[in-house]
Amino acid sequence: MSEREIGFAVVGLGMGAGHARDIYDLEGARLVAVCDLDEERLKAVGSKFKAKRYKSFARMLANPDVEVVSIALPSGMHAKFGIRAARAGKHVVIEKPIDVKLRAIDRLIAEARKANVKLGAVFQSRYSPLNRRIKEVIDSGRMGKLYGIHADLHWWREQSYYGDEKHGLWKGTWAMDGGGSLANQGIHTLDLVQWLAGPAKSVFAYMDIFAHQIETEDKCSAVLRFENGAIGTINTTTACWPGGGDTLTIYGENGTIATGKKRDTIEIWKFRDDPEGKEEQEIKSMYGPVDDGEKRVNTDPRATSLHGHQPIMADMIEAIRQDRDPFITGESARRPVEIMTAIYKSARTGREVKLPL
Ligand SMILES: NC(=O)c1ccc[n+]([C@@H]2O[C@H](COP(=O)([O-])OP(=O)(O)OC[C@H]3O[C@@H](n4cnc5c(N)ncnc54)[C@H](O)[C@@H]3O)[C@@H](O)[C@H]2O)c1
Repeated sequence: MSEREIGFAVVGLGMGAGHARDIYDLEGARLVAVCDLDEERLKAVGSKFKAKRYKSFARMLANPDVEVVSIALPSGMHAKFGIRAARAGKHVVIEKPIDVKLRAIDRLIAEARKANVKLGAVFQSRYSPLNRRIKEVIDSGRMGKLYGIHADLHWWREQSYYGDEKHGLWKGTWAMDGGGSLANQGIHTLDLVQWLAGPAKSVFAYMDIFAHQIETEDKCSAVLRFENGAIGTINTTTACWPGGGDTLTIYGENGTIATGKKRDTIEIWKFRDDPEGKEEQEIKSMYGPVDDGEKRVNTDPRATSLHGHQPIMADMIEAIRQDRDPFITGESARRPVEIMTAIYKSARTGREVKLPL
């Protein structure tokens, strides 16, 4: 017998339009409702995916068919709306970053626990098969002692990205975006770094604003020291015209992994216990490098379909059915925000900042 469908609602229909599509197409889920203040977005998404439309979040929460609320509002609103949903007895999925303030995140985690609802977060990079494989290798100890982890996100964003009269003016503000290139674009990268390398114990950073009229930085560079002794760096920017990609290099006692400029491709996969390069060949046949004219096989759902958030929603359904934690819990989505907060503090004060905060 097939299991009962779980009723979802989405609030915030920019990125949330993608959530709506992914939920609509997901087996086991039913998109019940969508919510936005913007009539145009509401009408477009609601009619396309046959969902009830709400301008009022409170009224949407009163719909008993809504069991999970997926939140894709400006980042500084996440915890507040997550708490309202939890108090209404709804499970919650929240976009990255889970919020921009640690205290707000702590309140959200506590309220979700108190209401006995599931709290899950969006970090779709943790679902990428390549990133999972890298994590397995590191966690298995095959790499030996980890020496270095180095991430670079060299992107370009036009000034218009930071808002027009209708949307996006919250971007590049401290209150609602929590920062600039690190808090918004780079948070996925920072999350990957800390997910792979484990807890950081201190950071030192610089930041500045080069190419945009925004409040926050559009370039940030940080050095991190991890509890396991590894040293890391992260560089994030939206000021690199016309854009230079997004890469990660990790090396330790027994090997090196380097990802390519295109997401979910591999440049280097070398291990001492793979002297003939059999595993290297297998990995490269799946994840590149991309040669001109050669078709790359890539099993990442973001690469093979438009359904980047589906694994997160599918995991929430399973978490509810099995009464377990989601794969990405509130606590684990808090970690990159904690490091981000420390990085900004270091950049502001010109001092090393120790973790945990
Ligand atoms: N996972 C990813 O890769 C990814 C990509 C892009 C954005 N995001 C995240 O998604 C979130 C939204 O970003 P965006 O680019 O879609 O922003 P956006 O400004 O385009 O959309 C936000 C929407 O929220 C609506 N809204 C604001 N206040 C509301 C309220 N009180 N009630 C109902 N609706 C309200 C706005 O009308 C707007 O349509 C951010 O947290 C961002 O970090 C994640």
